[in-house]
Amino acid sequence: MILVLNGPNLNRLGLREPGVYGTQTLEDLERLCEGWGAELGTAVTCRQSNYEGQLLEWIQDAEEHGFSGIVLNPGALTHSSYALRDAIAGQRLPVVEVHISNVDAREEFRHRSVTAAVCRGKISGLGFLGYRLAMEALVEGTAEAES
Ligand code: DQA
Repeated sequence: MILVLNGPNLNRLGLREPGVYGTQTLEDLERLCEGWGAELGTAVTCRQSNYEGQLLEWIQDAEEHGFSGIVLNPGALTHSSYALRDAIAGQRLPVVEVHISNVDAREEFRHRSVTAAVCRGKISGLGFLGYRLAMEALVEGTAEAES
């Protein structure tokens, strides 16, 4: 079971800077993730919060709640949140960091991720497809660990 977490401002997808993030909404993204989960044979739970502490608690509790991996788009917390980094490092589930936009092609402050180093990997710039690729990596990783 995969947990898909979206951080601050991602509830505004579709309205927010459509030239950067596209015109599809968070609801569209979450429906896509559920469909991809069905194709990959895994249940998916999608959550979004604008609150750092809420994201930390979801990450801290994910294993206990039966999840096997986390797809995480931390939004701007990527570039600043040591608390989020510590929450990822302090638990055992694999986390794949996803960015809809190509953060390396944008402002300088977006080039630095304080969270990526404690994630299994990072996908950036591939739009919503990045979430599917992250889910595939987690399903593959889980299968490898169990065999
Ligand atoms: C983002 C990139 C971040 O720099 C930004 O603050 C976001 C969205 C992305 O998905 O491209 O909120 O994580």
